[in-house]
Amino acid sequence: MRDTVLELWPEIAWISNPGLRGQVTETWIRALQLSPLTADDLRHIPFTLLVPDCPTTFMEHKRCVVHIARQAAESMREFMGNALPINLDTVIAGAILADVGKLLEYEKVDGKACQSKRGELLRHPFTGVGLAMQCGVPDSVCHIIAAHAAEGDLVKRTTEAYIVHHADFMAFLPFKNLGK
Ligand SMILES: [Fe+2]
Repeated sequence: MRDTVLELWPEIAWISNPGLRGQVTETWIRALQLSPLTADDLRHIPFTLLVPDCPTTFMEHKRCVVHIARQAAESMREFMGNALPINLDTVIAGAILADVGKLLEYEKVDGKACQSKRGELLRHPFTGVGLAMQCGVPDSVCHIIAAHAAEGDLVKRTTEAYIVHHADFMAFLPFKNLGK
């Protein structure tokens, strides 16, 4: 399962702290063990259920968000690092884990991903934090999982959480136009 996760997520290697790298990997392993979805499903299911026939897959979207977040964090550090300290490992780990809870939010019915009963009760920011805390992921990263989506609008986001939130939304909101 570890190899499967590292194949899905080459970006895990970007995390410089070996402890955090291990915790992020463990969280994805645990999610896949508990999920009705397989790693291969993640390469095929749409990244959102909110856009009918969404043409971009879960993994394409999630990896894109990690790349955007990393590059945004590096640019902000380059130009504004004196004013805004940014922990790059926290950004990368948070972006990789932001949607890990979707593995417990979705199920497959007739070959199509849909929201499960559990998913209706506990959207992925909640299940994601649950999974990550079980694997020892630090609070600063769990905060990003908790605050990356609309629920986080009620939370005072850290700089790292703002970066992941906006990376996620800039790679999501344009798709809403496709559904119109
Ligand atoms: Fe999300």
